[in-house]
Amino acid sequence: MAQTKIRKAVFPVAGLGTRFLPATKAVPKEMLTVVDKPVIQYVVDEAAEAGIEHFVFVTGRGKGVIEDYFDIQFELEQMLRERNKNAELSLLADLLPTAGTASFTRQQVPLGLGHAIWCARDIVGNEPFAVLLPDMIMSSEKSCLKGMIEIYEETGGNVLAVEECDPEMAHKYGIVGVGDKVGEGFKVTEMVEKPAKGTAPSNFYINGRYILQPEIFGILETQERGAGNEIQLTDGMLALAKQQEFAAYHFKGETFDCGAKDGFILANLAFALQRGDIRPAIEGPLREMVAKLS
Ligand code: G1P
Repeated sequence: MAQTKIRKAVFPVAGLGTRFLPATKAVPKEMLTVVDKPVIQYVVDEAAEAGIEHFVFVTGRGKGVIEDYFDIQFELEQMLRERNKNAELSLLADLLPTAGTASFTRQQVPLGLGHAIWCARDIVGNEPFAVLLPDMIMSSEKSCLKGMIEIYEETGGNVLAVEECDPEMAHKYGIVGVGDKVGEGFKVTEMVEKPAKGTAPSNFYINGRYILQPEIFGILETQERGAGNEIQLTDGMLALAKQQEFAAYHFKGETFDCGAKDGFILANLAFALQRGDIRPAIEGPLREMVAKLS
C-alpha cells in the first residue's frame, strides 16, 4: 500500500551538552567536528540521502551558529572566489540546503525531548515525519533512516530504529518489547524510557531515529513529565501506541553517541579510517599506540 511520503525531518538541537563540558560552554555539541564536518552535518546527510526534503531544527539559546552554518557565508565565499579556491567553494555549495528547505524554531525552556518535538508541530503540520537525534551518528552501508523508510512503506504507522545493548546499560535508554517479525524488524509491544535496572522488557534500545505520525503532537501537548522529570517522547509514543501500530527496524550498522566523550572519539577514529585521504597518515601511528597498550 502506498504510504504518505516522509518529507520532513525534525532535529532537536536544543540540548545543553553538559556531558561534554567545557567544550560545549561556547560551542553547541552539534557543531563539534568529526574529522572535518560538524556532527549535525552527518545527521542531515543521512536524512537527505533517505529522501527528506525539509529540515526542521528545534534550537535554543546559544545555538544560533547552527543556523549560520546552514546559510551562505558571504564574505568567506567572496574571498574563496577571489583566490580561485574552487574545490572549497563547491564543497560549501554542495552542503548548502536549498533556500526555503531549512526551518528553525526554538525550544524556549529545556523541558525534555517530547517537548522539543512538540515545538516543531506547526512547521511539520499534519503529515508523518522523521526525528533524528543529532548526538547519534551512524556508519552503515544502508543508512538507518533509509532502512526505516523501507519498513514504513510496508507497514505505515510509526517506526523506531533499535539496536541491542548490553542489558546492564538498558536503564540509560528507551527500551522496546519485541513482537512478531516484520521485514528487517519486528512489531513493538511496549516501550519504556530508562527502565529501572532489571526491569527492561528486552535489550533493544531506541537508537535516536523515529518515523512518527502527526497525532503524536496532540499527545505531547498534554504529556506529563516522566523519567528525569522531563517530558519524554517515549511516554508520548506509548500513549500513541494505544491507537496506532509501532514497528521497530533492527539497525545493524555502527552507532556513535557523539554527546559522550568516548563515543565522539570513536566516531572520529572510525570516520577518519574510512577516508582515503586520511587513513594512510593515521593507520601506522594508531597501530603503534594500540601495540603500546598491550
Ligand atoms: C533519548 C531518548 C531515548 C533513546 C536515547 C538514544 O534519551 O529519550 O529513548 O534511547 O535518546 O540516545 P537521552 O539520550 O536524551 O537521555
